[in-house]
Amino acid sequence: MIVLEQVSKTFGAGTGAVHALHPTDLRIDAGEVVGLLGFSGAGKSTLLRLINRLEAPSGGRVLLQGQDITGLGDADLRQVRQRVGMIFQQFNLLSSRTALQNVMFGLEVSGRSGDEVRSRALQALADVGLSDKAEAYPAQLSGGQKQRVAIARALATEPSILLCDEATSALDPHTALSILRLLKSLKERRGMTLVIVTHDIKVASYLCDRAIVLEKGRVVDRIDMRAPQPASLLGKFFFETAKGWTDQTVLPQEDA
Ligand SMILES: Nc1ncnc2c1ncn2[C@@H]1O[C@H](COP(=O)(O)OP(=O)(O)OP(=O)(O)O)[C@@H](O)[C@H]1O
Ligand SMILES: [Mg+2]
Repeated sequence: MIVLEQVSKTFGAGTGAVHALHPTDLRIDAGEVVGLLGFSGAGKSTLLRLINRLEAPSGGRVLLQGQDITGLGDADLRQVRQRVGMIFQQFNLLSSRTALQNVMFGLEVSGRSGDEVRSRALQALADVGLSDKAEAYPAQLSGGQKQRVAIARALATEPSILLCDEATSALDPHTALSILRLLKSLKERRGMTLVIVTHDIKVASYLCDRAIVLEKGRVVDRIDMRAPQPASLLGKFFFETAKGWTDQTVLPQEDA
């Protein structure tokens, strides 16, 4: 479903260059749920954004369902993004549009008729349990409701891949779990492929088949979440933190 071949990303040039992602190979099968774990600045968001070409790679190739998207122009990329939904930590809703209009926004570029756009958007809101908030503006919604609008917007085009960048980090545990359950049901009902950035091993344990641990732009661990055996210090640390923090919790060494 998703193949990265030696994909890298460098921001800037010369002495100021930041190697956000060193050449990386990754293969994600249809229907898999993969978590991207790592500390702040490890390159998780960059890797996610390379999958739908929100970032252009500095090297390597990205293939989605066998199609090389590396060199595509804007029109072709819009088509690709109909198949690849994305949700963000900060929701990214348009404040001057209602929930329904926000969901319709993603469908309008798809060339569908006005009636079809509206009925699909209403259905997407119903799928996330927000039919009664269709006419509400983002400012009138709670964080969890906003995130559900964002999910409805991402799902309205019926993508086969959903990318989630810390979709539940800003939410209370109750709301977070309800969103995670919704994501899990998408995998189970629609066979959707999910790639999820998270800091939280609980999220990965609940939802993911596999976790990829990133450190300073490199993959340092690939963990089967059904029988987790982290090999790296960082991978082990993530599992340690799931037990809670104490004064004895050992931080992985920072080598500058
Ligand atoms: N547009 C950009 N221009 C310059 N540097 C960037 C840009 N985007 C990301 N970076 C750098 O690339 C590195 C990886 O950033 P990235 O956002 O992928 O990290 P992350 O793992 O998602 O972190 P966080 O958990 O804090 O969101 C960081 O050093 C960051 O400063
Ligand atoms: Mg990030």
